[in-house]
Amino acid sequence: MPDHPFSPSTTATERTPVPAFDLVIFGATGDLALRKLYPAMARRDDEGVLPPESRIIAMAHQARHIQDLPRQIEARLTTEGLSAETIARFMRRITILQADAHDPGSFAALSAILDRSPHVRAIYLSTAPDLFVPICRNLAQHGLLDGGARLILEKPIGRDLATAQEINDAVARLIPESRTYRIDHYLGKETVQNLLVLRFANTLFERSWSSRDIDHVQITVAETVGLEARAGYYDRVGALRDMVQNHVLQLLCLFASEPPNQLEADAVRDEKLRVLKALRPIREGDVSRSTVRGQYSQGSIDGKIVPGYSDELGHPSDTETFVALRCEVDNWRWAGVPFYLRTGKRLSLRSSEIVVVFKPVPHSIFTNVAQEALAPNRLVLRLQPNDGLQLHMMMKVPGSGRLKLVPRTLDLRYDTAFDFRTPDAYERLLTDVIRGDQTLFMRRDEVEAAWAWVDPIIRGWQDFNVRPFRYPAGSWGPSQAIGLIERDGRSWVDPESS
Ligand code: BG6
Repeated sequence: MPDHPFSPSTTATERTPVPAFDLVIFGATGDLALRKLYPAMARRDDEGVLPPESRIIAMAHQARHIQDLPRQIEARLTTEGLSAETIARFMRRITILQADAHDPGSFAALSAILDRSPHVRAIYLSTAPDLFVPICRNLAQHGLLDGGARLILEKPIGRDLATAQEINDAVARLIPESRTYRIDHYLGKETVQNLLVLRFANTLFERSWSSRDIDHVQITVAETVGLEARAGYYDRVGALRDMVQNHVLQLLCLFASEPPNQLEADAVRDEKLRVLKALRPIREGDVSRSTVRGQYSQGSIDGKIVPGYSDELGHPSDTETFVALRCEVDNWRWAGVPFYLRTGKRLSLRSSEIVVVFKPVPHSIFTNVAQEALAPNRLVLRLQPNDGLQLHMMMKVPGSGRLKLVPRTLDLRYDTAFDFRTPDAYERLLTDVIRGDQTLFMRRDEVEAAWAWVDPIIRGWQDFNVRPFRYPAGSWGPSQAIGLIERDGRSWVDPESS
């Protein structure tokens, strides 16, 4: 029985013990493994959460990368502030093996290591999606997907509905859905989980959570980074596939879903799926009205000049690094409430938040106060950085004389509400896999429903030759994104630094 997924995961409040495990990582020399996976496991190790006999088996393709891997991992863990002692202990858990996804013979060494191991087996495919199926076939051929093994698939699953279905079908022939964990690391973020707690452990907000009280919702996932070391991947993918198809839509789903009847993996996922299915399609012909593509040009971030996307890439490209969308959820709860979504690289700040703008009061009794001074309530759910929530509301300015109202903010930050460290999403998710809890992972039908919604947008961009508008790095995206929301008489609430 999986344990409860929404308690804070820190040493102090650690849930049931993590069972002994063998974690196999394919793509072990990649950016994700180095930046996220090893640090996440090493921090858990540092906190004493990992059983001593647990092992990490790093699978890499190229011998020259393998040689350098231990040094790279150590350097990364040092940057993360882990002690030499923790790093040394963690490194002793790691075995590095060479394997070629297309060569069954190269899986023999892995098979020998895992043979008769009594540990929970978790196999993480942190590779390009076109390697998922060949790797799984080779694993299956060696019997490595048997015996309760769990398979973790990193996003993106495919590049459209057809390729996602192909991967899902092929994987399903080798391992059941109940042991397949499709990761969307946004679901592992504390604040994202807290969205469910905010909604379903408090009566206050849920009663207002509909078109009755909410005017519109904005979801912004803004990054300041550019291409980083992922040019090859990113240029083939772009912001819509990289961020919207998964992270942004998952946020929308958790925000807009009906209450699941219990906190159990399929109950939560069923409700998210219903939202995806209720999303009004943006048909090919609607793309110029309901979507904006952007690509950053040279600009400045934190006082530093940064190059434009094509310069960073080394050649001209029409890949979008920014996307803004206006969408609607066609059901009783959300009829008539637009959801404005935007995400981009090289924006003004690194900040992700959901802004809920409530309707204005139906009748103002403050007739001697200018109407525009009565700002509608606004709830800001801040996912990162400085996770927390803020409720903007009207207050009276103290004093006698003419009544004066001002907007003020109730501000709850998690770092002040709790005196322990917020774990990184991967720390949470990797131990959830080992514990066998699928609640925070995407089911195949969710991934496919998300692609089914995204595909016509991509087709529309192609058919109508919609090319990205340029925006200077360090801005909030192209001016057309402002037009997208202002056309409805509303405006973006840009995140503030804090
Ligand atoms: C990844 C995307 O899934 O999420 C990256 O592929 C993006 O392009 C990253 O930078 C953002 O994650 P976070 O946790 O830094 O917001």
